[in-house]
Amino acid sequence: NYNPVTAQAHANIALIKYWGKRSVDLNLPAVGSISLTLDALKTTTTLQFDENLNEDELQLDYRKVTGKPLDRVTEFLDIAAETSNRPRAKIVTKNSFPTGAGLASSASGFAALAVAADKALNLNHSKEELSRLARKGSGSAARSIYGGFAEMKCGSSFDDDKDDYAIPLHDESHWDLRLLIAVTSTDKKDVGSTEGMVRTAKTSSFYQGWVENQQADLEEMRSALHAKNFEKVGELTEHSCFKMHGLAMSGRPPLLYWNAATTETIHTVWNLRKKGIAAFVTIDAGPQVKILCQPDRAELIKQAVLSVNGVKNIIETKPGPEASIVQSE
Ligand code: DP6
Repeated sequence: NYNPVTAQAHANIALIKYWGKRSVDLNLPAVGSISLTLDALKTTTTLQFDENLNEDELQLDYRKVTGKPLDRVTEFLDIAAETSNRPRAKIVTKNSFPTGAGLASSASGFAALAVAADKALNLNHSKEELSRLARKGSGSAARSIYGGFAEMKCGSSFDDDKDDYAIPLHDESHWDLRLLIAVTSTDKKDVGSTEGMVRTAKTSSFYQGWVENQQADLEEMRSALHAKNFEKVGELTEHSCFKMHGLAMSGRPPLLYWNAATTETIHTVWNLRKKGIAAFVTIDAGPQVKILCQPDRAELIKQAVLSVNGVKNIIETKPGPEASIVQSE
């Protein structure tokens, strides 16, 4: 008999973006990345192995899930257990943010599942090993093992992942910042990040330049975070975001993740900046705009962005904690 294990993990936003893989099979990134873990976007997952089950069972936000998401979880648990000949499991997972809000849940989802599987299978992994495991579920999940600011490292080998895991840079008490998420659409995205990355690497003539330039951005971001230089962190965050989207747009066929409200929100933030209000945008593989600002500016920016046509709501987040076990017997 197996006891249920409950773990939680928070989503993260990449300030220096991950885009591109050097191995799709092993899910090895082509570039390193730097992220901020977010308190308000939490996934809580209960995992229980059960000898009587014939198949894994997945429940997400009170709904039974089958098909691709379930296959991804089954594959992940096989990897965690290092065998497909393992007891099947019941996985009950809940997001603190509305499902289908168009927000990435794979990062918090696989980080929570990695921590839960580690405990349930008595693996006693180190943080580094947990991060490596989470990465096998989703690249960005490797960073959600840590609170605050984390860096995903990128190795150079094509057939092993000894250098592909995230490390902590600063915990959540390092710097009180705000990340405002302007939700502009709740539709499912057309092209997921995995597919988008593969297409970009294959078809964009910008891809090599992107990979080669990443190291410089990572170094600058590390020092700016250490120095708590907000202007510099903001400038680098926007730069990495637009470089990633420029790269995606240069694919064939092109990838454009933005809608009209996305663009209008960018201009609204830039207009605020012209008035001396420090705020910077970043966008992932979807149309939501994430705005980085300091706590005393959050309210004003929220009001301005809420007046943008097409912005449905704003979720306010701040640096959040590491992934952890919440309860186990
Ligand atoms: C744009 O981590 O979702 O959010 O490894 O294929 O699961 P897979 O990709 P995923 O990609 C995240 C891409 C991004 C940028 C980032 O989070 O760094």
